[in-house]
Amino acid sequence: MRTDDPLSICDVHSHLVPGVDDGARTIEDTLDGVKLMTQAGIRKIITTPHVDASLVRNPERYAEHMDRVDRAWSDAERAVAEKFPEVDFRCGHEVMLDIPDPDLEDERLHLGGSSFVLLEWPRLQLPPGTVGVLSRLRRVGIRPIVAHPERYVGFDRDLELAKEWRRVGAYLQVNYGSLIGRYGPEARRLAVRLLRRGLVDYLATDFHGRPHLKLLYREGVEMLSELGGDEQISLLSITNPQRIFRDEEPVPVPLLLGERTLWVRLRGLLKR
Ligand SMILES: [Fe+2]
Repeated sequence: MRTDDPLSICDVHSHLVPGVDDGARTIEDTLDGVKLMTQAGIRKIITTPHVDASLVRNPERYAEHMDRVDRAWSDAERAVAEKFPEVDFRCGHEVMLDIPDPDLEDERLHLGGSSFVLLEWPRLQLPPGTVGVLSRLRRVGIRPIVAHPERYVGFDRDLELAKEWRRVGAYLQVNYGSLIGRYGPEARRLAVRLLRRGLVDYLATDFHGRPHLKLLYREGVEMLSELGGDEQISLLSITNPQRIFRDEEPVPVPLLLGERTLWVRLRGLLKR
């Protein structure tokens, strides 16, 4: 069974449902994106179109939006099953927390029907009360995963907030691209710092399915390997995301040790 293959690399954050967000525009984009992923060795994908949490409060508009996503997803699922039968392709969402009391009961908002939900806050700014929101979600049986925490403007370098999020039961997902400076030097520093403190549970591509974009999976993995993180790569790219498919909590990831060599530092600068 492909879902039980212990070596399958999984990706749980991407935008490959065509025409519903700022990711893939057409089925061709979807198929090109999945092709890039399979070439990188990824065999399990949960793709995660953007949706605003506030939309749920407007039942009519929400139903209309979700119908559109359902239809586009069905087309994408069928096309991928035909062209890439070896790929386990599922759907979730990346929910934008634009309100402090989101209702995330609808299973379509969850990652592949699990209890995990991928979350972000608007405009890469953290509003007050993030710990409270995550804690309330956890109390109603949702396992929140904070997408790319390293990308938030002004994220505290001591990582106290990241620790608080984890203390109330949230998990953290860092983007591969952050490790090679795709989102700037500060996001890169934060990504590495989070890994050094053992605060990261998943790595993901956040691939937006447009022809000019790179997946950055291999580049991110190479960089983490150069930082001495081979064990972390396996846990963050295979073990823990696979556990989402089985609705199981991630296993703890050991701290990334070792100093950055001059060579690694230079490579980081060159790839920016
Ligand atoms: Fe995303």
